[in-house]
Amino acid sequence: MKTEIIKINKYNTDTTIKKASDIIKSGGVVIFPTETVYGIGANALDEKSSEKIYKAKGRPSDNPLIVHIADIIDIYKISNGIDKRTKNIISTFWPGPLTIIVKKADIIPYRTTGGLNTVAVRCPYNNIVNRIIKKSGFPIAAPSANISGKPSITSEEFIVEEFNGKVDMIILDNDSSIGIESTVIDTTEKNITILRPGYITKSDIENVIKEEVHFDFNIVDKLSSPKSPGMKYKHYSPKCDLYIISENRTNDEIRAFLKRDLENNIHSVIIAKEKYNSEFDNFISLGTDDVAVAKNIFKVLRKLDKINVPKAYFIEISNSELAFSIMDRVKKAAAYKFV
Ligand code: TXA
Ligand code: MG
Repeated sequence: MKTEIIKINKYNTDTTIKKASDIIKSGGVVIFPTETVYGIGANALDEKSSEKIYKAKGRPSDNPLIVHIADIIDIYKISNGIDKRTKNIISTFWPGPLTIIVKKADIIPYRTTGGLNTVAVRCPYNNIVNRIIKKSGFPIAAPSANISGKPSITSEEFIVEEFNGKVDMIILDNDSSIGIESTVIDTTEKNITILRPGYITKSDIENVIKEEVHFDFNIVDKLSSPKSPGMKYKHYSPKCDLYIISENRTNDEIRAFLKRDLENNIHSVIIAKEKYNSEFDNFISLGTDDVAVAKNIFKVLRKLDKINVPKAYFIEISNSELAFSIMDRVKKAAAYKFV
């Protein structure tokens, strides 16, 4: 398949958006930027289009897609309605990096929801994707644009090598402003439950609905017993051997890890916040604060592959809800290996 690749700028924005929506209207697949990570999108109402997304990503067919809408009001077209609490949440956080699970309307095919009676819906604020949805005239199903099991992509350098020849069009832009995927919440039960933590946090949502928001058992369980290893949980995986260093390790202890690796001829690297930069030689900086770390995390994980790092240590971050969301990804990437 020939892939049309366009770097968006202020001169070609209108024509690029028109081209992308024409492709999607005719059943094609387009990769576009969003505020969280790049998405790989197609007509959410058409089974054959959804099928193409699964194929391009190599994604298991029971893993449902997020349906993206351009206007908040469109939630009513693709769901069986929402309760007052959910309405409150979306009018606060949409457009933005929040996905809600609701009961699906009949027009959403089971192929898009991986066979479920519920559908994940997100109204993104990124202007490019928002305009593509509007111009297409229907919702767009879009998972993160990465081969299944690999880290999500937030910068143009990795998109082309991963998807050239697999989709009809790729739109490249500046790095994603948020950098981790949307927070996913289930609104179909008595309690609101976070299925995937993200930039919008538990307390952000609690402040709006004035009731407790829960974490999915899986998130908490794996956090409280991080030693549970296993390929079963491996996502976002770089090729290198990745470990998480507990934050309470001293710099001398960390240097001892590096020294021992070197004695075994393994040139390992440290990945950490900028404040550690002066402490270690083989160092990759994640930036100074948690917002920067969120923005950089997937780029750094992918960079490890690019420069063929055999082994890396990620110095744990904590003490904020955003850090918790970031560590959710890092733990999966490291297959829960702590040292
Ligand atoms: O930020 C984002 O959400 C990005 C951009 C492109 O919008 N998209 C994204 O999609 O991260 P994806 O497919 O990589 O992740 C969607 C997550 C998956 O874990 C999927 O299993 C879950 O949402 N999901 C989708 N529909 C669901 C449903 N009906 N019930 C439960 N989980 C669902
Ligand atoms: Mg994904």
